[in-house]
Amino acid sequence: MEGGTALFIQKFIQSPLQVGSLFPSSAALARKMTASLAWQNIELAAELGAGTGVITNEIMRCMEPGTKLHVFEKDLEMRKRLQKKYGPSADYHEDACEILKSIGKEEGALDVVLSGLPFANFDKSLQAQLVTEIYRSLRPGGVLVAFQYSTQMKKTFQATFTEVEISFEPRNFPPAFVYTCIK
Ligand SMILES: C[S@@+](CC[C@H](N)C(=O)[O-])C[C@H]1O[C@@H](n2cnc3c(N)ncnc32)[C@H](O)[C@@H]1O
Repeated sequence: MEGGTALFIQKFIQSPLQVGSLFPSSAALARKMTASLAWQNIELAAELGAGTGVITNEIMRCMEPGTKLHVFEKDLEMRKRLQKKYGPSADYHEDACEILKSIGKEEGALDVVLSGLPFANFDKSLQAQLVTEIYRSLRPGGVLVAFQYSTQMKKTFQATFTEVEISFEPRNFPPAFVYTCIK
């Protein structure tokens, strides 16, 4: 088994609600998360809940030389692994509840947020805190791309964002829904 997958399974067993799935995402889901974005226009991006870096890999592949990436991962061991793997290609932070404070920017700074956070596992107040922080961090017209294993977050995202589209990726375990939300 690849080292990242073994670490991910171990972390899921330790903290199932925080980690949210037994296995890392598939390459197909990572591609779906990044494919619709106009990377040539993205100067500042954040990835929330990067885990062992499956989606980070794809972001790194798509990113233009002018894109600055901030990676958020709450688990220290996974964060250190990301830092070792990607080095200075990104900045690394702990808590997605504190995006703007962590990156030292004002409201409206980010062009895009890509999220692997398991929102459905969080209580309503943590969900609201994260959605508000993501919304504040994005510029008008900025995009949140988030995957989930259900459509449970549809109403919450619709109540906040101007436009919400949902697509489906069957080539993942579990199969996943990709929300694209425009501020
Ligand atoms: C479903 S996993 C996704 C991992 C990876 N993006 C993937 O697709 O394989 C969710 C990740 O979010 C992280 N996480 C949960 N709450 C977080 C928070 N408040 N801030 C940053 N990361 C968080 C977990 O530790 C876990 O690694």
